Amino acid sequence: MPTRNIAVIVGSLRQNSFNRKIALAIAAVAPPTLKFNIIPIGQLPLFNEDLEAAPPAEWVSFRKQIKDSDAVLFATPEYNRSFPGALKNALDVGSRPYGQSVWNAKPGAVVSVSVGGLGAFGANHHLRQSLMYLNIPAMPTPEVYIGSASKLFDASGNLTSDDTRALLTRFAKAFGEWIESNLPK
Ligand code: FNR
Repeated sequence: MPTRNIAVIVGSLRQNSFNRKIALAIAAVAPPTLKFNIIPIGQLPLFNEDLEAAPPAEWVSFRKQIKDSDAVLFATPEYNRSFPGALKNALDVGSRPYGQSVWNAKPGAVVSVSVGGLGAFGANHHLRQSLMYLNIPAMPTPEVYIGSASKLFDASGNLTSDDTRALLTRFAKAFGEWIESNLPK
């Protein structure tokens, strides 16, 4: 398989984010042709159409990084049964100017991670609703909802659950295949 560059968007801005740890764990078990690059979103000014006349440098840089990627992996926490505002802002920033969305037709995948028991199911599916509108073909299965995340890592942040590692391995392999079959022709 050819090398594919995957932009990783982590919906949590927290330094010790479990979502970030799961994203890194996916990168660690993925086929070697998949290159994962976390694209920060916390620095993006809130989306405001008035700013498009002279877009903030952070927007310009973010849009270019997504545009230059082959695919996008989203790792999202759940905030109040949806995905966080910072992630929505990143989606909005990338979606404009009208007709120039950098998300368009990028193959995508979603994992959701929570310290709660439901694995951020609500966030995962709210996010999928936006991805559909943005024309990001989002891989349907394997579904990855990771609950009780605080029990899955050691003090150094290493994944200690073999079951979770096996799931992430299947997910990463499937994502590689999904990218190949969904890249624009
Ligand atoms: C949460 N959390 C949470 N968890 C959940 O399963 N469902 C929810 O609706 C919410 N709501 C929520 C709102 C807000 C404002 C915060 C800060 C947290 C808990 C959340 O799953 C937990 O903080 C995770 O650890 C967040 O992911 P990161 O930051 O570890 O990646």
